[in-house]
Amino acid sequence: MQTVVITGGTDGLGGGLAAHYLRRGARVVAVGSTPAKGQALLRQAAALSAADRAVFLRADLTSVTAARELVTAIRSTCPSVDKLVLCAQRYRLFGPRAVTPEGFEHSFALAYLSRYILSHGLREAMESAPRPVIMNVGIPGTPLGRIHWDDPQLTRRYSGTRATLQSFRANDLLGVAFAALYADTPIRYVGYHPGVVSTGMPDHLPPPVRALTKASFALIATSVTKAVTPMARLLDDPPGERFTAYRTTRRLPLKVPAFDREAALRLHRLTDELVSRRRP
Ligand SMILES: NC(=O)c1ccc[n+]([C@@H]2O[C@H](COP(=O)([O-])OP(=O)(O)OC[C@H]3O[C@@H](n4cnc5c(N)ncnc54)[C@H](OP(=O)(O)O)[C@@H]3O)[C@@H](O)[C@H]2O)c1
Repeated sequence: MQTVVITGGTDGLGGGLAAHYLRRGARVVAVGSTPAKGQALLRQAAALSAADRAVFLRADLTSVTAARELVTAIRSTCPSVDKLVLCAQRYRLFGPRAVTPEGFEHSFALAYLSRYILSHGLREAMESAPRPVIMNVGIPGTPLGRIHWDDPQLTRRYSGTRATLQSFRANDLLGVAFAALYADTPIRYVGYHPGVVSTGMPDHLPPPVRALTKASFALIATSVTKAVTPMARLLDDPPGERFTAYRTTRRLPLKVPAFDREAALRLHRLTDELVSRRRP
């Protein structure tokens, strides 16, 4: 039986993929921070006669320690992991800079560090699966944004947009570095942009922006059910290359600065150093 681990697997795109793989007989481990959403997923699994294959793990992935504990919990209960889908996200485009209790800027911690820890931490558990895939869901390949090498926690000149764009770039470089570091790995790492999809994402935006985003979603967004179809296709039949990036079904060019190999390895070293300082 395949094991599919999905962060943000209790809502939106992650929740859609969780239901998809439960219907197809996989074991699904869904991670989220809200217990009520986890309970709702377990009820949905029961309705699909899949209660024995659904697991909800509560974790606040803004915390490096919680991400590490999650890796330990998954490794101790799953002999191997076939698919890891990284969806957990909460945009903070507005408002003041927020810092986690571990001292990381919020977007850097949730959108990037948690994905770094899970990707590397579950690598060995995935390498024993027949066709392992990591799908890092976000906005790959955007020319906007950059890594602020001298101040990645954005202690100076913070803006929510700057932090969010940095996290997009960091995830691009995470995939490139993963493929560069593990030349013999069978894991296929896919950066994935789902297009505009009608999820609960706008619910967490401030009121005027929320209303505008919901109105534009009503006009242009795809449903979650439709959006997960090409995602599942890629997860079930990943490309041969160790790292690729897609916007829905369109493959993105990798010879652009967003996917620069030297920058990827530099960010890997920097991140390793940052998270090593927080080792218990
Ligand atoms: N929707 C779109 O149009 C769109 C477009 C481009 C890219 N994307 C990308 O697609 C991915 C999924 O987005 P979505 O629209 O499906 O979002 P969503 O509906 O808001 O779902 C986000 C998920 O992340 C979880 N999450 C949030 N904060 C967390 C935390 N601190 N710890 C653990 N889990 C947390 C949420 O669970 P809890 O609430 O319980 O924490 C939820 O399950 C994101 O990476 C997003 O950037 C989406």
